[in-house]
Order: sequence, then structure tokens, then C-alpha cells
Amino acid sequence: MTKMAVFYYSSTGANYQMAQWAEQGLKEAGAEVKLVKIPETAPKEAIDQNPAWKKHYEATQDVPEAQVDDLEWADGYVFSIPTRFGNVPGQVKTFMDMAGGLWAQGKLVDKVVTAMSSAQNPHGGQEQTITNFYTSIYHWGGIVVAPGYTDEQIFAAGGNPYGTSATVDGEGNIQDDIEYVVKHQAKRAYEVAKKIHG
Ligand SMILES: Cc1cc2nc3c(=O)[nH]c(=O)nc-3n(C[C@H](O)[C@H](O)[C@H](O)COP(=O)(O)O)c2cc1C
Repeated sequence: MTKMAVFYYSSTGANYQMAQWAEQGLKEAGAEVKLVKIPETAPKEAIDQNPAWKKHYEATQDVPEAQVDDLEWADGYVFSIPTRFGNVPGQVKTFMDMAGGLWAQGKLVDKVVTAMSSAQNPHGGQEQTITNFYTSIYHWGGIVVAPGYTDEQIFAAGGNPYGTSATVDGEGNIQDDIEYVVKHQAKRAYEVAKKIHG
């Protein structure tokens, strides 16, 4: 069975929701799925000063933390990550920077990867975050499977061909109707992973 890992980082819950939709879509498509959260690296004082962050952090203590080994286990990945000043969050970068050993052994080659992002503004940098993230995947020898315009509903969901983009309010509530396109994007990555990895 083709194995898919959904990696997410979320401070206030939006990307956790998107990761759960991706997981559901992958299960519907028949994949073996693992949903894991990228570990928090911010100090407790920073988390405590934002009630929405604190609430989400405490509510997701039971979600398994991503291990570098998950990158080797899965044939394909869905990454759901928030935008930070138009870029990948430090937490996600820290996790990826631990993959040097796997990279050196060639164990990240041919992994099928797709990414999605959220930001507070409709044009707040989601595209930059996703394409910056994909840059590292090219270094890994991964196969980026962007959604493109492979489904009519992508147009209605904002039309970002690089990866689903969410707009969120200050408390992490998603403002757009993107559940379908998140699932579509994840399923498409799975279908490609299945062709490559069987
Ligand atoms: C340090 C920091 C930087 C941010 N940078 C941006 C930004 O560049 N553009 C934007 O629209 N929103 C920005 N935001 C808002 C986040 O993208 C938003 O809170 C996030 O997408 C919510 O996702 P989550 O609920 O999964 O944490 C920033 C938030 C923080 C804390």
C-alpha cells in the first residue's frame, strides 16, 4: 500500500484543520496515512501570550510529533504550513534541517510532495511560502506535485496552482471554502505516488 504522511505545523489551528482534511481525503482514496505535527520550538512564554496559540497548543498535545524517520517511511508527503513573513515557519525549517542524514543517503529521492499554506491576508504570501518550501524539496530530489488547475473548484478556491491557500482570521479560523480542494490536492499527490511507488 502506498504510504502518505501529512506533516503540519499550526499555531492557532488552521493548518491542523487543513491537515485533517488532507488525511481524510487520503483515506478516502485508499492510502495508508500518518498525520503528524511538526514540533513546536517557540518558548512557552511566547505561546502563553497568545490565547489562540495557547489553546491550540494545549488541545493538540495528543497528536503524534513528526519524526525525521517519517520522511523515510512515507512514499509521499502533504505539508500544511502557515505563512511567516512570506516564508516557511522556523519550526518547519528546523524539522527539515534535521533531514540532512536522510538526504545524504539518498533516502528522500523520488518522494512525492505537495504543500499548502495559510496567511491572514488573501495575498499575504501563501504562494511565496509554498514555492520557498518546494525549493528544499528540489534539493531532496523530490517530485513536486502541485495542484495546478486540475479541478474546476480550484478557481473558486482562489486559484493558486502551487498549493491550496487559506485566509484566516486572527484566531486561526479559515475564511474560505477549501475543504474539497485540500482533499483534491492530497489525493492527486497520492495518485502520483501510487504510480511511482506502487
Ligand atoms: C510571526 C508571524 C508572521 C506572519 N506573517 C504573515 C504574513 O507574512 N502574511 C500574512 O498574511 N499573515 C502572516 N501571519 C499570520 C499567519 O500566517 C496566520 O496566523 C496563520 O496562517 C494561521 O495558521 P495556523 O492557525 O495554522 O497557525 C503571520 C503570523 C505570525 C505569528
